[in-house]
Amino acid sequence: MDPGTRLPAENRIYIPAPGEESDVELLPAGDVTDGVVRVGGTVRRPHQPQSYAAADYLDWLEDAGFEGSPRFLGRDSAGRDVLTFLPGTCAGAVPEQWAQSEDLLRSVACFLRRLHQTSAGYTPSRHPFPPRPVRQDPGTLVCHLDVTPQNVVVRGGPAAGLIDFDLAGLSTTYKDSYNTAMHWVPLRDPADAWAGWEMADPFRRLRIFADAYGWTPEERRRLPQFGAEAAELSLERMEHNARNLGGGWARMWRDGVGEVISRRRQWLEDNEARLTAALTR
Ligand SMILES: Nc1ncnc2c1ncn2[C@@H]1O[C@H](COP(=O)(O)OP(=O)(O)O)[C@@H](O)[C@H]1O
Ligand SMILES: [Mg+2]
Repeated sequence: MDPGTRLPAENRIYIPAPGEESDVELLPAGDVTDGVVRVGGTVRRPHQPQSYAAADYLDWLEDAGFEGSPRFLGRDSAGRDVLTFLPGTCAGAVPEQWAQSEDLLRSVACFLRRLHQTSAGYTPSRHPFPPRPVRQDPGTLVCHLDVTPQNVVVRGGPAAGLIDFDLAGLSTTYKDSYNTAMHWVPLRDPADAWAGWEMADPFRRLRIFADAYGWTPEERRRLPQFGAEAAELSLERMEHNARNLGGGWARMWRDGVGEVISRRRQWLEDNEARLTAALTR
């Protein structure tokens, strides 16, 4: 859209195309947001306090020529956020076999790098992101911070899009890329391996991610400790959100996400030498 004719996010009212509202599909439930649906070529999501901050960022990405993020089209008559639907496939809650592809892993790392490079020129102003307890690597770069297999749109093999900017906010390339690797390698105790992922080699996959993203030697050396710290903070935050926000956060907590994160921290500590070797040798 021409930035000159675009209304501010909060003034955008979405008018559906004729017939669009009869083409409705409930989208796979993510962890947190209830009631995400596809309507025609759009996605409708409950409006959130951070929606307009995310919308400003999505506008900026559009103007920067970044193709891999949805457009914020406004709010519909029910008050829901309306975004463009990105064609392609996202992994399910237990990521499918195809999500293990090493080429896909490489492409996720390269996609994230490109997003970080593009975002380097962005400073949120009109709608600042709501404050979040970001104690690790507080930074000045707007990052997605939730690049999970369920939030990456895959088209014809590689990663082609990223959705669900609910957790976007100020951070650093390292924090966001660590978090992405954690989800995609994935870094977790083997006891918590997803069904069908038992044979995936986390050391090999982490190295693939690191090389494709381009982590520095220092970033590679820091990884096990950074990951253990991240797990500690994530535990605190998940518990806080479960208690104060309820909904999907409380559901995840009841389902034992806390134990999974604790076991990840322990696994990272126990495997510090192997992880560093895999990343640096
Ligand atoms: N813009 C979009 N383009 C394509 N698929 C989408 C889009 N938005 C959501 N989806 C699908 O719906 C699922 C849940 O939506 P998401 O916005 O990630 O909600 P949650 O906050 O619950 O994770 C995604 O994992 C994806 O499969
Ligand atoms: Mg999601």
